Amino acid sequence: MKIEPFEMERMQSTWENLVEMDMSESGVRPVTLLELGEMGLDLNGILSMPLGYSQSNGTIPLREALSALYPGSTPEHIEVTNGTSEANYLLALSLLRDGDEVAMEVPNYMQYGGLPKSCGARLLPFRLLLDGDWEPDWDEFDQAVNEKTRLVYLSNPNNPTGSVLSEEAMRRMVARCEQVGAYLLADEVYLGAEIHCERTRSFWGMSDRVIVTSGLSKAYGIPGVRIGWIAGPKEVVAQCWSQHDYITIGPNKISDAVARVAVQAENRERLYARTRAILQQNLPIMRKWVEAFGGKLEFREPRAGALCLVRYNSPTPSYTLCERVRVNQSVLIVPGVHLGLEGFVRLWLGGRPEFLSEGLRRIGIEFGKEFGTS
Ligand SMILES: Cc1ncc(COP(=O)(O)O)c(C=O)c1O
Repeated sequence: MKIEPFEMERMQSTWENLVEMDMSESGVRPVTLLELGEMGLDLNGILSMPLGYSQSNGTIPLREALSALYPGSTPEHIEVTNGTSEANYLLALSLLRDGDEVAMEVPNYMQYGGLPKSCGARLLPFRLLLDGDWEPDWDEFDQAVNEKTRLVYLSNPNNPTGSVLSEEAMRRMVARCEQVGAYLLADEVYLGAEIHCERTRSFWGMSDRVIVTSGLSKAYGIPGVRIGWIAGPKEVVAQCWSQHDYITIGPNKISDAVARVAVQAENRERLYARTRAILQQNLPIMRKWVEAFGGKLEFREPRAGALCLVRYNSPTPSYTLCERVRVNQSVLIVPGVHLGLEGFVRLWLGGRPEFLSEGLRRIGIEFGKEFGTS
């Protein structure tokens, strides 16, 4: 199977461990096993656990706990995966065939930039509009989602804009998917990482055409265990399990045990609160930094997620700018072009405040040179 490079992931994996400051990150600084021990994870139990295979689609207790998050679902509606990325991947392999069309909102986490094509499907993007509070361009949406559309992919809250769709927009998207018979794949890995606003509403339950993916990597702050999941119609989940058997068989046993603790209602709320506190502390630092450029940098404040998408007022391609920042300042940031939107850079909001301030200081030096203000 031929697949084109996932440019953002490749740039990150090439440089993230070689630069002094990785600000291409997209979650909050991660939780430790000790912190999870304080939430009830049996650390001694982990030390003495025989490292055998785990239940390949997720243990029954984990799938029961997850199905409690998606009203009306049962463990058979859930597949536990190696990260949200594997969840998204299994869905593409299960659902897409030659000649299908996939509609994807941009900007986005661009896993679905390359994946549908590798399955023989055609990709049709529809834009989120900055001036429309990052709601979709509805003309583009209606064209992209048509009778040939098998799947619509979106992330909500969105990576990289940090925007959250209004309920009206969600209803309109679901109605269109029902009308044309497409599945709506809502990647909700940032649900729970709201900064000041109320909890994002899940697409789950709005229609039997809805499939949700999520995981522990962002709002929970536990990317290292690589746990994600699919909540979807039973027949779709069953197909994903078959694909899973061929790819990785299943998630690892330690990770399943960690996830069982993390997703318990009380712990989940504690982890979400930790994420919110980190982001609330950091957002004013970012705001002040952007303002200091007197209009040459702009951003629409994220409502959720550990990311800030910043527009810069110059014609230099975002990749060139980010390479300058990396080479001259040893700071890695994400060029907008890798997210489907030129003229922007994506900065990380989830680290320690002193890390953020130092990273922004260094990035600012390069923007100062770019704008001729340094
Ligand atoms: C929207 C979105 N989906 C999926 C992923 C991958 O998540 P995971 O680490 O759970 O595989 C990311 C990572 O940045 C993301 O932003």
